[in-house]
Amino acid sequence: PSLEKEFLPMYFGWFLSKRSSEILRKAGQAFLDELASLKAFKKESKYFASAIEDPKIKIALTSYFVKRPPGVLHCTTKYTEFGKAAGAEEYAQQEAVKASYGKGFTLSISALFLTTKTVGARVELSEQQLLLWPGDADKILPTDNLPKGSRAHITLGCANGVEAVQTGLDLLEFVKLEKAGNKGDEVGEIGGGKLLYFDNGMWMLTLSKKIDVKAVFSGYYG
Ligand code: 2AM
Repeated sequence: PSLEKEFLPMYFGWFLSKRSSEILRKAGQAFLDELASLKAFKKESKYFASAIEDPKIKIALTSYFVKRPPGVLHCTTKYTEFGKAAGAEEYAQQEAVKASYGKGFTLSISALFLTTKTVGARVELSEQQLLLWPGDADKILPTDNLPKGSRAHITLGCANGVEAVQTGLDLLEFVKLEKAGNKGDEVGEIGGGKLLYFDNGMWMLTLSKKIDVKAVFSGYYG
């Protein structure tokens, strides 16, 4: 028992190794480059109006997603806001959280996705990893009922004026569409997997070979 109240981080999550961060950043960049030069994407480029220099040549997606996380990438589990967020203390007190703190994990990336606001990587959590997933994260609306871990992602970039929290909400939009039976339009195979279009500027590349990344479960204090 400590005398002082425990100081909670801004958020808990898995922090990728430098090498894994580089590998995933590269995969994200390749995804943007391929998408930007694709006819099917150019046809739908109105959603990325500010990125169009000359749609016949190339859409400047890299400069469209200007806000990129500095340093190593991460997958947020619980946003605790230094203890102010709802359920923060309860989360931090869980046995699984305490036992896993500082431990190494391998996360599996199953897809890359892109919307008009964000670009990110979809993380497929194992049963053991799901023990660290909070119960309240997988919702946009309070009435949403999506599988645990639906929101698990790694932010790769955000458009101007968009906050990082948006990436997880965007992924939940895809999951809601999938749940409603919308499998997306198969645009074709591009480097790394099958490209799906869900309308409204929502693209997902399901990877034929999942990317495994090494990460440490820890807290970020800002
Ligand atoms: P992210 O996990 O989608 O990247 C610091 O702001 C980190 O905490 C960011 O990486 C961010 O999003 C995440 N974050 C910020 N606000 C959040 C919230 N309300 N809920 C969940 N995650 C949040």
